[in-house]
Amino acid sequence: MTQTPHSPAITLSGGVAMPLVGFGTWQLRGRRGYEAVRFALETGYRHIDTATMYGNEGEVGRALTDSGIDRGDVFITTKLPSGAAGRERATIDASLRALGTDHVDLWLVHWPPGGRARPEVWQELLAAAGRGLARAVGVSNYSVRQIDELIGATGQAPAVNQIPWSPPRYDPRVLAASRERNVVVEGYSPLKGTNLRDRTLAEIASRHGVTPAQVVLRWHVEHGIPVIPKSAHPERIAANFDLFSFALTPEEVARIDGLSRR
Ligand SMILES: NC(=O)c1ccc[n+]([C@@H]2O[C@H](COP(=O)([O-])OP(=O)(O)OC[C@H]3O[C@@H](n4cnc5c(N)ncnc54)[C@H](OP(=O)(O)O)[C@@H]3O)[C@@H](O)[C@H]2O)c1
Repeated sequence: MTQTPHSPAITLSGGVAMPLVGFGTWQLRGRRGYEAVRFALETGYRHIDTATMYGNEGEVGRALTDSGIDRGDVFITTKLPSGAAGRERATIDASLRALGTDHVDLWLVHWPPGGRARPEVWQELLAAAGRGLARAVGVSNYSVRQIDELIGATGQAPAVNQIPWSPPRYDPRVLAASRERNVVVEGYSPLKGTNLRDRTLAEIASRHGVTPAQVVLRWHVEHGIPVIPKSAHPERIAANFDLFSFALTPEEVARIDGLSRR
């Protein structure tokens, strides 16, 4: 792991640094979406997660331009809708236009198209990376078996698999299998997937003087798992990034891992 001024980062295969804490933007559209992304950037987030399907790439692009922050200092992820399989080039061109940039940092296949791995779609993402349109490429919502299919067909593993991840969904076998293949597991729905009133989380949170949500997000960081919490509210956007003034002990991490076995 390397350190950036804003959040620790993980290095993806290919050498691209991805900040471990990013801002999720699903359901943040229009003025509200623009303002949330502006506020997240002001707070210090340097990693924004969007997707063609979210209908907010324009707002993300405008927020970034208006923030005055250098494009090169912000890690942007967008995603190919599974329904756009076969129209990869036109889709990334439209994403780049909306985002106001000539490349994204990470482009993902949003879901396995039709529930299948579809290596020919993956090949198109690799081609886009080859043309410099994406610094890294990966997938989302793929199983390890489907990732093996992509590797078998192209010899190249996705840099990232973005999947639901939270204490109740902690799965050390998926993590180990992904790491063996050099695939970084990125977690989504960290808070939605968790009972924030859980007694173990409440106890650990009060020991550190933070909230259970911050404990959950810090637990991702302790595992080296990139995490992309979404909020429309400034105080939560700020709290969800305020994760670097405390750390969990190995014993606390193990207790939170154990929530998946309840
Ligand atoms: N690849 C995929 O298929 C996929 C699927 C789902 C999500 N994602 C990505 O992952 C991001 C995060 O996932 P998500 O949006 O599903 O869920 P999430 O970030 O786990 O949770 C968001 C929900 O939690 C609330 N919240 C935020 N901060 C909170 C806090 N500190 N305390 C209590 N509640 C809090 C938010 O409400 P308020 O907004 O009202 O604060 C919102 O209702 C998405 O935005 C998207 O970028 C990807």
